[in-house]
Amino acid sequence: MAAFNTETVLSVHHWNDTLFSFTTTRDPALRFHNGHFVMIGLEVDGKPLMRAYSIVSANYEENLEFLSIKVQNGPLTSRLQHLKVGDSILVSKKPVGTLVVDDLRPGKNLFLFGTGTGLAPFMSIIKDPDIYERFEKVVLVHGVRYTSELAYKDFIEHDLLNNEYFGEMVRDKLIYYPTVTREPFRNTGRQTDLILSGKLCADIGLPQLNPETDRAMMCGSPALLEDLCKILDDLGFTVSPGVGEPGDYVIERAFVEK
Ligand code: A2P
Repeated sequence: MAAFNTETVLSVHHWNDTLFSFTTTRDPALRFHNGHFVMIGLEVDGKPLMRAYSIVSANYEENLEFLSIKVQNGPLTSRLQHLKVGDSILVSKKPVGTLVVDDLRPGKNLFLFGTGTGLAPFMSIIKDPDIYERFEKVVLVHGVRYTSELAYKDFIEHDLLNNEYFGEMVRDKLIYYPTVTREPFRNTGRQTDLILSGKLCADIGLPQLNPETDRAMMCGSPALLEDLCKILDDLGFTVSPGVGEPGDYVIERAFVEK
């Protein structure tokens, strides 16, 4: 049995020169947990060229959605960025990953720390009504260089809050904290610095991060993960050692080499 399904591109959205997203059909047999990733790619010279992509869409949605950077010389994204409606794309049949809420111990507040395309798995998670049942507050921190990289900002600030089924819970519980590092914006600075200085928690009206009450998920570049893990470890948090083994926080790389 082939390892991949062939899906059809249904829509493409270019956020700016470096970032785009697209939706595809979804094989009805594909099942995943919110926060999971799949391998996606194209056939190049008769062989599949695949990279890991977190799924942006929630597991109850009819279609699949992905967020991607555009790397001019990237083996895959130099091609992927030219996707058009109707094109075919390969999607692995086995979604996997460590950013799953089941691997977090119960807690009061859930912090989602993402940079760049590291936002993708958290889109799936903030569209999951179950997350709002489990936590009192869900804090989504998205760090980018430029405001044009704040993908899905309008969706998070408007559409999600007005979701006909669980919008009320989202309005009550979701705190969205976008922060920009290389141009002026309402929140600026790296999320690591914002945690250490206490500004993040002061701005959102929560006490400083504490393993007694808080849980976290993080997705970004290796440098971000290293720095953020150190901060949380110093605060007394314990990372989940692996799938099926709960911890105070879970991590996933943002799969930057594309
Ligand atoms: P900065 O502009 O100060 O480098 P990138 O596109 O390089 O992955 O970065 C996305 C965002 O993550 C940028 O705002 C960047 O800030 C920030 N960032 C990069 N490395 C780190 C790190 N080690 N800790 C915290 N934030 C980081």
